[in-house]
Amino acid sequence: MSTKLAINLHKLARFTNTAIPILATIFFLAGRYISFYYHFLTVPLLGLLLVNLYYLFGQKNHSLLRNFGILGQGRYMLESLGPELRQYLFSGDTEERPFNRTERGEVYRKANNVDSAASFGSQNNFDATEIKLRHSLFPISRGDVEPYRMTFGEERGIQNAYTLTVPIIISGMSYGALGKRAVRSLARGIAQTGGLMNTGEGGYPKYHLMENCDLAFQIGTAKFGVRNRDGTLNDQLLAELAAKEQIKMIELKLSQGAKPGKGGMLPKEKITQEISELRGVPMGRDIVSPTHHAECQDYPSTIAFIRRIQEISQLPVGIKLCIGDPRQFFELVGEMKRQDAFPDFITIDGAEGGTGAAPKAFLDRVGMPLFPALKSANDILLAAGVRQRVKIIASGKLISPGSQIIAFCLGANAVATARGFMLSIGCIQALQCGSNTCPVGITTHDPDLERGINIPDKALRVANYIHSLEHDLDELLCSAGARTVSDLTFDHLYIPNESALYPFANHS
Ligand SMILES: Cc1cc2nc3c(=O)[nH]c(=O)nc-3n(C[C@H](O)[C@H](O)[C@H](O)COP(=O)(O)O)c2cc1C
Repeated sequence: MSTKLAINLHKLARFTNTAIPILATIFFLAGRYISFYYHFLTVPLLGLLLVNLYYLFGQKNHSLLRNFGILGQGRYMLESLGPELRQYLFSGDTEERPFNRTERGEVYRKANNVDSAASFGSQNNFDATEIKLRHSLFPISRGDVEPYRMTFGEERGIQNAYTLTVPIIISGMSYGALGKRAVRSLARGIAQTGGLMNTGEGGYPKYHLMENCDLAFQIGTAKFGVRNRDGTLNDQLLAELAAKEQIKMIELKLSQGAKPGKGGMLPKEKITQEISELRGVPMGRDIVSPTHHAECQDYPSTIAFIRRIQEISQLPVGIKLCIGDPRQFFELVGEMKRQDAFPDFITIDGAEGGTGAAPKAFLDRVGMPLFPALKSANDILLAAGVRQRVKIIASGKLISPGSQIIAFCLGANAVATARGFMLSIGCIQALQCGSNTCPVGITTHDPDLERGINIPDKALRVANYIHSLEHDLDELLCSAGARTVSDLTFDHLYIPNESALYPFANHS
């Protein structure tokens, strides 16, 4: 006889499936002949028996339940709790994705205004996979760092050029993907810093506008908020929006890192009456935006469309894209030169970027990661002799000063993050953005869950996060001996080998 105490789940299931009817019978008889109170157990046991019979003989979908009965449910329960168990109990500090605990912790500390100095040593890699900043032998003092200023639209000499004074922008997230309280917290927080927030592609930015912050209005491929019935651009609606004091720039979204070549998605669970009205779409169906703008069929029409938006809005206008093939970006820049028409900025979004909802294959397998894409774009613009005509905004996991400084060295004029700001207002990376069940109330419209967000408190965290990032960026500039981010170049980077530019390893 074996002395091992191994559990044979199949035998245990057979035992359970036999025990349930026997116990139900015993308690039924006890209730009948001994005391009525035994029926308090008979009733749940009979319920359990019926459910178990259904699992074993009724339903046909799940083999596990047909073979194991009620015990099989244990697997599904543990599986559904798996992410939480791993996150809280079993994962190491540098293991999880997209952001590990160390990375999230850094944002939480910044948002809570807690000193983020760490002790003993770095947890990052010092092998051949990590890019580092080359510091100078002669660092400069904090007082010598110049305040950040970047003026968009100055190259075209437009009247409404916009000067950005905070180098970290809240990347596009629509009301729809986010709940109203999250939008208002972010907007109120950024307003306290004088920074810029992108509205995302959610149509008329009702809640973004409430908090008096500077906004870049995003036009997605469905053109929510500025669309004609046939999905093309409505010039009149765009002109009306652009005339609003708070709208400082327009961003035409060509693609997004998390799902390039696929339009925005809003699952039906998140489409409330209000969202259906703001976007002009029906309820009860997923909203899937077109893969591209009807107006952008090739290089010439794309550049012509950018110029048209510049003319209608009279504002700085940029494009957002994830680069797939740098040769296409090269062609696009060539077309800008031919037409002598340039977007005022180009947002390069890395394939590692986040989203409210996207097909997994797109999240995992489509598009160039940020660092190589940014370097390519910068090099192409330089080689074409037009780098000074456009600003570059970079996004894609740039949630910490360490990764942001590298983006500046690779050519960014400003950086943007979406998930960094979500973390700053309490995101716990529950990975439920698309299901309306966000446990901390950020990506949901369920009032019971949104209740958790206290707008003044979260706004303060947003402002703290930005101030702390600015502080750290300034200190990194000192170390590199640079007075502004514009002084940083590729030569400020220590790149151990070519593959280090490809952030298969975490790069924060
Ligand atoms: C919840 C959520 C909603 C988003 N909505 C939009 C959107 O409406 N338009 C867009 O261009 N990008 C959207 N994005 C992508 C972000 O703007 C950004 O490009 C991307 O997440 C990279 O930044 P990150 O890695 O710092 O989050 C969204 C991202 C998240 C997480």
